[in-house]
Amino acid sequence: MLSNNILQSFSPIITKWYENNKRELPWRETTDPYKIWLSEIILQQTRVNQGLNYYLRFIERFPDVKALANADEIEILKLWQGLGYYSRARNIHAAARMIVEKHNGIFPTDHKDILLLKGIGDYTAAAITSFAYNEAYAVVDGNVFRVLARIFGIDTPIDSVKGKKEFTLLATDLLDKKQPSLHNQAIMEFGALQCVPMSPACGQCVLNNFCVAYLTDSITDFPKKEQKLKQRERFFNYLFIRENNYTYLNKRTGKDVWHNLYEFPLIETGKAVRWEELVQMEQFKALFGNQQAVEITGNVYQVKHVLSHQIIHTSFYQISVGAASANLKGYERIEIGGLEDYPVSRLTELFLQKNNI
Ligand code: ADE
Repeated sequence: MLSNNILQSFSPIITKWYENNKRELPWRETTDPYKIWLSEIILQQTRVNQGLNYYLRFIERFPDVKALANADEIEILKLWQGLGYYSRARNIHAAARMIVEKHNGIFPTDHKDILLLKGIGDYTAAAITSFAYNEAYAVVDGNVFRVLARIFGIDTPIDSVKGKKEFTLLATDLLDKKQPSLHNQAIMEFGALQCVPMSPACGQCVLNNFCVAYLTDSITDFPKKEQKLKQRERFFNYLFIRENNYTYLNKRTGKDVWHNLYEFPLIETGKAVRWEELVQMEQFKALFGNQQAVEITGNVYQVKHVLSHQIIHTSFYQISVGAASANLKGYERIEIGGLEDYPVSRLTELFLQKNNI
């Protein structure tokens, strides 16, 4: 087939496929830019199945920009809990405030103004302008990269500047300017359901007679990436302290994972350490001094928590101390029964769930 042919056939084929195969999703039933924006931020790095309930809860609790702007960050983080990449939650809060301050609480319509909002990049701006205003901006997300790389046999790395430009140009060429919203939804859905990362069912694909990767039996070679992801290994030792009905929490404030989430007192070590070694460490002594023996009560919960750029080897120690014996200045002393009011990482949430706390 001539490439001219596929350039013209691409959008009609993919939109027809979409009409026959699409999932019914609530953010596809609206043109409210606020709802579309929220859905797109939630769906970054998150599967539709998982994101759906979060979306519904957010829309219910914060039905419009003003409600979100007026919320406490702690409540937003709590609603976000479990989704990961918490900067997304902090950014939607900051962006909602910007919209209230600079745009009178009305979601901007201009592509340039939308791009200036915190946490909104090319992809999200294109999604909002095309889905809400039917403007001709092509979306280029992970699904689109994969579909285009395979069909056109493009081996430029998708994580390079050159690749981003090349794929965006092609996506823009392919975009049906008369129905950008439909076209964009279609190509993303096609990537999510048909042209999936692993073992796609190419035999049943409506584009297989055009697809360079399929026709050259090289589906698994596309898309190409420049960089192998380097994952940093870390070792966290958490102390779940029981002081009668109370425990201690710290709010993470540094420039690191889980910014502004809460956690138990943490001793991070350069390698895995056993309890006997931990209690000899200065950081440990600084918390408890030498005035008493600190006893482990309950099981030590050990888990390897994998994030996109880090592997966190974690031990949770449950320990009991007498009233006011720990030197935990700067930590919040809270009732154990009130733990669920605090936003915590998925790692800590799982520990609490597994141990019925
Ligand atoms: N993933 C990201 N955006 C999406 C959307 N609008 N519909 C389905 N999946 C998505």
